Amino acid sequence: MALIVQPTEIEIEKASNYLKQGNLVAFPTETVYGLGADALNEEAVKKIFQYKDRPLNDPVIVHVEKYSQVQDLINLTEKESKFYKHLTQNFWPGPLTIVAKATSKVPDIITAKSGFVGIRSPSHKVAHDLLKVSQLPIAAPSANRFGHVSPTTAQHVFEDLGKYPITILDGGSTVVGIESTVMKLQEINGKIQLTFLRKGAISPENIKESIKNIPEFNDIVEINVVQRVVDLKKKEEEQKAKENENENENQNENQNENENEVSPGLHITHYAPDKETYLILNIDLKQDLKTDSNINPNINLKNYSNINSNYEKKFTFSETVLIDFKSQFLDIKDKFFAYSDLSPNGDVEESSVNLYSLLRWSETFPQTKVVILPEITQFFKNLTKNQKIPSILDALADRMFRASSGKTAFLDLHNYFVCVFSKLENLKEN
Ligand code: TXA
Ligand code: MG
Repeated sequence: MALIVQPTEIEIEKASNYLKQGNLVAFPTETVYGLGADALNEEAVKKIFQYKDRPLNDPVIVHVEKYSQVQDLINLTEKESKFYKHLTQNFWPGPLTIVAKATSKVPDIITAKSGFVGIRSPSHKVAHDLLKVSQLPIAAPSANRFGHVSPTTAQHVFEDLGKYPITILDGGSTVVGIESTVMKLQEINGKIQLTFLRKGAISPENIKESIKNIPEFNDIVEINVVQRVVDLKKKEEEQKAKENENENENQNENQNENENEVSPGLHITHYAPDKETYLILNIDLKQDLKTDSNINPNINLKNYSNINSNYEKKFTFSETVLIDFKSQFLDIKDKFFAYSDLSPNGDVEESSVNLYSLLRWSETFPQTKVVILPEITQFFKNLTKNQKIPSILDALADRMFRASSGKTAFLDLHNYFVCVFSKLENLKEN
């Protein structure tokens, strides 16, 4: 049975000893809660996979207190090393995981036999204290059941992993709310290649900004972002293949290997809540962000009057949970079974903090059939030059896209239906 404790000095000391004995401790970071083990103790790390029900081909992030601790764990060229240091000086402690060549000291179970290890130094005080007191590198994925929404409170961890003998350090709600940026760093043909494998609070623009006045880096750094185009048809086929018991094992293995080539954690349905979830497409905001405080949804929604002709499924609003953004549907909130808002004032950072909590909340209504979320990038399409898009917007949109597996719906505001189509347009991630 898991135990939730307050992160007092004594409890941190106890948790540190518990880790050293090969046990697991869940702790808050600024992003989400992690399920930690001594990274150099293979048996302990195995428990992470077992408790989370996580496949072994998914590598685990290692957390360190400070830069000096990475020396033992990574094996870099001179250029890589210089740039790694630059990154840590600019972005650590913080939500940037750097994936780089691992030394043989790092267990295979951490790297998923890729030869690369992802490391970050979290900025949360409790995480920091635990790392400092234990002096261990701590392997920690998000502390949720595999495939479920990441935890942003100690209670969330307990809900998913409460039956296991873990200590949960309660540091309240996390302040970023979505997982760290995962970026691979590699020297190829004399250039430093940076590949963004997972979006987070640190964006490619933040990295560019950090090197723009350093010619030594500016000249050799190349940035790639892994783009995913969700082929829903392929997804459906994959789903069918999985359901088919007779499917031969080799084929499934190959499929996993292909996913591995990018990053296993990028699996599209990775952050899915337990209910059918869709993104609402027909929010059509044309007004300037600054002047639209009194938006009336009936004006801003396109009139899809012929919508009833070709949908595949429809749900009534009364069997729907709506997670709103910027009070778009506040006027008609009583039509839905349950209604909440990521940020009534349209604040992106606040939305990131609230997203996972609200996805978990949306699962608590057994009477409902469907959860709908706004397609949030639509709100930021027509910005003027001096309106800055918060750097976490891309990451937030990415998580909402995954929560819905890229599936979209339209709202019929005349009849109060959520309409879901069989022939969906393939959505491109931006
Ligand atoms: O914010 C976070 O990163 C949180 C907190 C606890 O630090 N951790 C977290 O870990 O989100 P996890 O395991 O849930 O997601 C990390 C993802 C993995 O799924 C994997 O895709 C990628 O990061 N990753 C980790 N190590 C990697 C490696 N060596 N090569 C490629 N991808 C890696
Ligand atoms: Mg995770």
